[in-house]
Amino acid sequence: MTLNREVALKVSNLSVTYQTSRGPAPVVHDVSFSLARGETLAIVGESGSGKSTMAMATAGLLPDQAHVTGTVALDGVDIVGQSKRVLEDIRGSAVAVIFQNPMTSLNPTMRVGDQIAEQLIRHKAMKRAVARNRSLELLREVMINDPEGVYRKYPHQLSGGMKQRVMIAMAVSCEPKVLIADEPTTALDVTVQAEILQIMRALSREHSMGLLLVTHDMGVVAEMATHVAVVYDGRFVEYAPAADLFTDPLHPYTQGLLHSQPRIDDPEARHRRLATIPRPAPMLEHLEHGYEVRSEEQEKTLRPGHNPDSRFVRLNDNFSPVVREGSTV
Ligand SMILES: Nc1ncnc2c1ncn2[C@@H]1O[C@H](COP(=O)(O)OP(=O)(O)O)[C@@H](O)[C@H]1O
Ligand SMILES: [Mg+2]
Repeated sequence: MTLNREVALKVSNLSVTYQTSRGPAPVVHDVSFSLARGETLAIVGESGSGKSTMAMATAGLLPDQAHVTGTVALDGVDIVGQSKRVLEDIRGSAVAVIFQNPMTSLNPTMRVGDQIAEQLIRHKAMKRAVARNRSLELLREVMINDPEGVYRKYPHQLSGGMKQRVMIAMAVSCEPKVLIADEPTTALDVTVQAEILQIMRALSREHSMGLLLVTHDMGVVAEMATHVAVVYDGRFVEYAPAADLFTDPLHPYTQGLLHSQPRIDDPEARHRRLATIPRPAPMLEHLEHGYEVRSEEQEKTLRPGHNPDSRFVRLNDNFSPVVREGSTV
């Protein structure tokens, strides 16, 4: 960790509760993390665990029925509770979002080049001709070989991968400090997925953006992340630099995730049964009160007081292992 890490996003004690017809549904519980420019934090976990809710809270994009507490500081400004107007400005400058479905962001009735140009005119106050040239440049930056041709196309005339590139060009057009990508490649086939990830990696380096990448795919995490937060049931169960997490996953749920990924480079693995993840996953709360687990190895590391060196969650800014207050681990 370098000392001059420029924090672009700092989320503290974020909790989100949806108001539903059946009453309040708490889905994110007391989550804290930070993201520096040039870093990629992968938020990984299974479907329904609250990843998108965390990401959308970070971009100020949650619907009205979401009650948010805690702080989300984008470039030093807390966006929790800000008006829609202010949030719109912030989305034009500090943060941009890439969704799984590009059509969420693209207008079907407008040429894609003009859509990028519009962003630049609106948020960067560019003249139309300047915005047009910059849009062509951006299309080149997302590795489109024929920017002039693509500029004139309507979204429905482009393949899924091309649409995703256009959306990325649009997202980076206003030079956000933080780029949020929610399952950006899930809907794409494997080759296209690899290209899109490569483009995002290159752009986040070149533009020195912090990338918040939501995924359920550990392969994507391995490829992209500098840091990883593992989510289970709306909580971080482990938060660590990627290298540490892959070489030394501490939480049983993380270990389960790593073992449940089929590996194509390992012919043996095809004949091995995929590990199943113990349910319910041991949470910090459980750990604090002692949690029954079956395997002896887990028993050793999980039983509070059993092994004074065991650590489950690494939570603070410089990622030194910490145990929460009140924990007896
Ligand atoms: N607008 C909403 N109103 C009520 N519940 C919601 C809303 N959006 C998401 N949820 C619920 O919140 C939980 C987390 O969803 P989500 O953040 O989309 O998880 P993930 O992205 O990990 O799949 C799910 O149980 C989902 O049904
Ligand atoms: Mg999601």
